[in-house]
Amino acid sequence: MHVFYQAAEANRWVRQQTALGITVGLVPTMGALHEGHFSLVDTSRGTCQKTIATIFVNPTQFAPHEDLSRYPRTLESDLEGLRRHHADAVFIPETEDIYPRGFSTYVDPPEVSLPWEGDCRPGHFRGVCTVVLKLFHLLPSTHAFFGQKDFQQAATIIAMVRDLGVNIEIVVCPILRDPDRLAMSSRNRYLTPQERNRALAIPLALEQVQLAVAKGISDASQLEAIMKQILSEGPVDQIEYAAIVDPYALTRVTRIDHPAVAIIAARVGQTRLIDNDRIAPQDG
Ligand code: PAF
Repeated sequence: MHVFYQAAEANRWVRQQTALGITVGLVPTMGALHEGHFSLVDTSRGTCQKTIATIFVNPTQFAPHEDLSRYPRTLESDLEGLRRHHADAVFIPETEDIYPRGFSTYVDPPEVSLPWEGDCRPGHFRGVCTVVLKLFHLLPSTHAFFGQKDFQQAATIIAMVRDLGVNIEIVVCPILRDPDRLAMSSRNRYLTPQERNRALAIPLALEQVQLAVAKGISDASQLEAIMKQILSEGPVDQIEYAAIVDPYALTRVTRIDHPAVAIIAARVGQTRLIDNDRIAPQDG
């Protein structure tokens, strides 16, 4: 596996591949890699001829009240995992590579980024869009892979690519869950066993929504009430949102008469967790 620390070297490697007509899959990450990330690498390898991951804890996507220094950094095991999953290359930029001295140009993120995470994490998607677009330029790959767990992030990147005419195919990969059903996340490592137990209210709430829909409940406010009750019983410490939304616009829906998505953000102890599940309307 090539390990690039210099943007120019990583850029050259990607351009060498694409010049030969080789498809290149980009897997952007902030490190602290887990099986969810590795499934993106595996999907990229199944889709593209070469795969390059990036590891960069992007300072601009942390809202003012969020602690960038607390974000886990596990470079050695990240590299070992990427090798195990046969990534062809990894790019580990320095902050100055992404944000050179005097940097002041940011992406104004699309409308779909405004509610939910946009409300709870001011500036977050401005930072995400800026770094992702920059990575798309530095590593001009044919495909890029993102996880469905960050549902609004994926919708935001798809909208940005459409709006700005970026020539890259975005692939959204399914959520991976641990055996206790908690969605895999770099932040799960912060949970104490007792907190983790309480956090299981999140997947449980999503499962109960599916059951309710299967039983014929299609009123979104009823489904939201079910999620909120289960989360309160968990109990999680704070429900930031639990909503049924349109999968493209991320606006609240009133009924499940089209495909929708249930989205949750909740705090357990000091840890903020997000999860979601797609909901298909029932026939008839
Ligand atoms: O999902 C993430 O890990 C980050 O938001 C991303 C896409 C790597 C941008 O920093």
